[in-house]
Amino acid sequence: MTEWWRDAVFYQVYPRSFADGDGDGQGDLAGLTARLDAIAALGVDALWLTPFYPSPMVDGGYDVADYTDVDPRYGDLAAFDRLLAAAHAAGLRVTIDLVPNHCSSEHRWFRDAIEAAPGSPERARFLVRDGRGPGGAQPPTNWGSVFSGASWTRFPDGQWYYHLFDPTQPDFNWANPEVAEEFERILRFWLDRGVDGFRIDVSDALIKDFDAGDTPGGHPVIPKGASSPLHEHYRAFRRVMDDYDGDRMAVLETGAPAEEVALLVRPDEMHLAFDLALTKARWTAPALHEAIEEGLAVARLSGAPATWVIENHDLPRAVTRYGADVELSGEYVPETEHEDAGGPDLEQGTRRARAAAVLLCSLPGAVYLFQGQELGLPEVEDLPDDVREDPVFHRSGGTTRGRDGCRVPLPWEGSEAPYGFGPEGSAPWLPQPEVFAGLRRELQERDPGSMLALYRELLTTRKAHTVLREGTLEWLAAHEVPGGSAGDVLAFRLRGAEESAVVVVNTGPDVVPVAPGYLVSSSVPRAALAGGLPRDAAVVVVEPTSDQENQ
Ligand code: BGC
Repeated sequence: MTEWWRDAVFYQVYPRSFADGDGDGQGDLAGLTARLDAIAALGVDALWLTPFYPSPMVDGGYDVADYTDVDPRYGDLAAFDRLLAAAHAAGLRVTIDLVPNHCSSEHRWFRDAIEAAPGSPERARFLVRDGRGPGGAQPPTNWGSVFSGASWTRFPDGQWYYHLFDPTQPDFNWANPEVAEEFERILRFWLDRGVDGFRIDVSDALIKDFDAGDTPGGHPVIPKGASSPLHEHYRAFRRVMDDYDGDRMAVLETGAPAEEVALLVRPDEMHLAFDLALTKARWTAPALHEAIEEGLAVARLSGAPATWVIENHDLPRAVTRYGADVELSGEYVPETEHEDAGGPDLEQGTRRARAAAVLLCSLPGAVYLFQGQELGLPEVEDLPDDVREDPVFHRSGGTTRGRDGCRVPLPWEGSEAPYGFGPEGSAPWLPQPEVFAGLRRELQERDPGSMLALYRELLTTRKAHTVLREGTLEWLAAHEVPGGSAGDVLAFRLRGAEESAVVVVNTGPDVVPVAPGYLVSSSVPRAALAGGLPRDAAVVVVEPTSDQENQ
């Protein structure tokens, strides 16, 4: 069997917001199973489900209370098995989220650690230290949490435990072999059930070096490089996965630099790692170029394919981001910080998101789409504060808006909320804006000019032309693209065994000529290309082969 994941398209499902089968306002596994045909019709190869495990849902389920069960709001293990069987029958592989850095404070192990004494084996499963200063009242380091505030919280008896994220998300102690054993059990539990792979949360931060002490800015110290024990953990994961047939795989969530990421996707470690640079890059040719280079660098250094992403559940929707014309920096940056007080220009954003879709689906390697990206949904920026759930919002005291705006339940059909997300009259856990009426799937299915139609075409084209999935990418300089004005045009050639293709993205205001060849994809209607490639548009042409040229 081939390594299917090397050039696969994955569709990220946020189960709470995909489809609500029982009308309680929250998406569930039965709702997802009933709507699988829509995902299959899109032409993707696999699903990635974000966490559906029992959880108090402080962090959207990334606070896992039990790694080998299903939260009752989503169903039960039997519902999971039905989903898995239905997905496989529809030709879709299923990958799930693994959260090894931290659990929920409701996890049995942490409940035990609270009850147990300092120095006990129960405490040794977490990162527990005595404090500094009189009575140990000062935290062991000055490190801050990714979600704002301190990263140390006290047990009732005065010891401190470390949490990279929320205080309800205690970090595991990966230096304790019991933790590695437990994760091996968890991996096997899901592999035995038949899952095809995992997305590994916060994959590069499992090990912390507290001996480094206080740091400027309170940044945590995460040991890097080939000698980090992290690699041994991924080698162990890999050995477990290789025990199973069917080419199981894992993709790493990481924001580390290319040289570090390349180490994590060596042949005996994990399979793929997201290039998240494209989720943050501004809409300019140099910024896109740099973001793509990062993914290619990992591929060059490791031999693993690049893994492309434009949207996920942690970041503002592309339509809004490109409409606001900003660059995002740092991790979990949910703000779009409009430069213009009028808010994002969604027409511009949609134009660019269409061009970005053409680019994304023409990059060699694996591709991830986030539910709703194929509908061109905007970020919902005006959610009332009292419905917001993201700890990023609450821990920042409301100064950072948080990530709820990209997690609003999907619009399926009907002209009023809940737009088919749940039964008529049910109230989705986050309110859907009226603009969703015009973006509902059923409408887009009938409109050849819709974002959905574009994604379907792009994925069909990607399947039909191996070069778009597996070609070798060569950048074209401005002068090699006919009429390409320096600076605004991003262009590259993909060379494959049978054909080559040229991808051109025009981020600037001037129309540029379309490269010669057979047009296979375009972000604008073909008629709009008569005078050349307009601003914020992208095309892919398959180049004439030398045989044809000689005829
Ligand atoms: C997930 C976030 C989550 C965080 C903490 C991230 O990588 O994508 O949604 O808040 O991990 O688990």
